[in-house]
Amino acid sequence: MEKKSVILGVTGGIAAYKAAELVRLLVKAGVETKVAMTQNATKFISPLTFEALSGNKVVSDMWDAGNAAMDHVHWGQEADLVIVAPATADFIAKMAHGLGDDFLSTMVLAASARILLCPAMNSRMLLNPMTQANLGTLRKHGYIVMEPGDGGLACGTDGPGRLPEPEDIMEEVRKLLSPQDLAGLRFLVTAGPTIEPLDPVRYMTNRSSGRMGYAIARGARMRGGDVILVSGPTQLVPPRGVVFESVNTAEEMRRVVLDRCGSVDVIIKAAAVLDYRPKEKAPQKMKRKGDRQTLELIENPDILAELGRDRVSGRRILVGFAAETEDLLANAKGKLQRKNLDMIVANDVSRHDAGFEVDTNSVKILYRDGRMEELGLMPKESVAAGLLDRIKEMWEKGT
Ligand code: CTP
Repeated sequence: MEKKSVILGVTGGIAAYKAAELVRLLVKAGVETKVAMTQNATKFISPLTFEALSGNKVVSDMWDAGNAAMDHVHWGQEADLVIVAPATADFIAKMAHGLGDDFLSTMVLAASARILLCPAMNSRMLLNPMTQANLGTLRKHGYIVMEPGDGGLACGTDGPGRLPEPEDIMEEVRKLLSPQDLAGLRFLVTAGPTIEPLDPVRYMTNRSSGRMGYAIARGARMRGGDVILVSGPTQLVPPRGVVFESVNTAEEMRRVVLDRCGSVDVIIKAAAVLDYRPKEKAPQKMKRKGDRQTLELIENPDILAELGRDRVSGRRILVGFAAETEDLLANAKGKLQRKNLDMIVANDVSRHDAGFEVDTNSVKILYRDGRMEELGLMPKESVAAGLLDRIKEMWEKGT
């Protein structure tokens, strides 16, 4: 999000303190951030806090001699996005009626950038038909309104009206600042390990964290794609806006993938599926039995190979992953051909800085036509973005 610029409007509600964290996250993401506050907002939090966090002068007074002339017009026209968080019932009502009586309201009225409103208030104020009608009017006129959270409120009651967490607002901001170049494309992504139970308390699994698959699902969603994420057990929170399916075993993953794949354009199988499962799951906890115990394993279905075999149309793109500890290219090439894929992403999981359980990856992408590309060591988000760029290109070429 570097080179992007955002104006954050802060209005007078108790959640104004959370706006400070939002500024910190924006600045951390490389976004040029300026803050405008209403007079009431300055009663809850000092402009100095935002000045220190953003590195920019805060405007809270339309008539401050330090403002450049026409700032209230230029700010919202030069920015990529205007956010108002928290947006009070009063501010929402003003905007819905086109009133501009201070710096923030006139700036929003004059803005050509998109406007994201994050309402936060007492539940009854939020559910009041006037507020709902005002929000409806604003939505109709292109304002993006983030649904407030539900839970404990500063007034001591419980209900809708909480300002969404700064990280959640950030996720929406990332989406709004991303090119929507994957809009219309439907993705199915698998992620994480699978597990196979041995008995009611034990199971077999592998070291996959799911981070690569989640980064792909999130990246595709940010760029406007419709995403179904089928995931084995992980510690990760599913990205906002994806359809999430949680599975355990390879057989469960197979069933969900086959059920869901009919409606998608791109399938990316980043999951590390267990190739074998115990022939039998003991109904009770297995007891110690002498110094040796033999476990009989039987083969799991190869989901990707099945998809490759039953390819419905040439239009669908099928992408596999190959996590290898030796003969990376030869093994990956073999899988690409055997499973009838368009692309395979090969990574050497014996490296300490790539593959399982780390935030970075270094992959090679092999194509059906024999081409090979290498992406250097980079965060998994960047690997995901690079992979999605190539998928988009392949889709557009129709190859
Ligand atoms: N895969 C799958 N179903 C399986 C095993 C693997 O769909 N039962 C998919 C993975 O999601 C990945 C690709 O196939 O996209 C390659 O997985 P990998 O485990 O590296 O390959 P295998 O074919 O299982 O080969 P091996 O374990 O012998 O290396």
